[in-house]
Amino acid sequence: MLWLITLAALLALPLLAASCGAAKSPFPIRLTAERVNAGRSIYTANCASCHGTPDSPPPLPAAPPHTVEGHTWHHADRDLFNWVLDRPPLATQMPAFRGVLSEDEVIAVLAYIKSTWPREVRDRQTSFSESYERQLEGVSRGQ
Ligand code: HEC
Repeated sequence: MLWLITLAALLALPLLAASCGAAKSPFPIRLTAERVNAGRSIYTANCASCHGTPDSPPPLPAAPPHTVEGHTWHHADRDLFNWVLDRPPLATQMPAFRGVLSEDEVIAVLAYIKSTWPREVRDRQTSFSESYERQLEGVSRGQ
């Protein structure tokens, strides 16, 4: 009986390794209907009071709009993710959301923001996010 369990465990190892590999990076953030819908509610509850919505300007003038008029789309997904969790560099009023939102919720809110951009802008920002990830992989392999 023990050999059977050992065999089953050994057979499961490569599968486990493969699934870990597949789940390695959430960037660039993929847009799914589920994420975008969840992100819309999270945005309304946590972000819109300062940043406004795609059809209303930011109530707090210091908060940049997340529309194409703002500069959110100039940044890679990974940076946006870290900034929402731990504040952007030199932030004065933007709160940290670590401990308030889960990492999955931050990904969902960013998926929603990305979904509001015109296709062309979204594609540009996505390929920028992709090359950003490739550069980071190169750095971590010492290239
Ligand atoms: C209390 C007001 C406030 C709330 C709430 C808020 N922000 Fe901000 N945010 C700001 C301000 C102001 C800045 C500009 C940096 C600064 O001076 O703090 C900013 C900057 C940012 C930036 C960097 C600038 C950019 O667009 O690239 C991102 C990204 C961002 N906020 C996302 C969010 C998200 C997502 C939420 C909701 C989860 C949120 N913010 C909630 C006020 C706020």
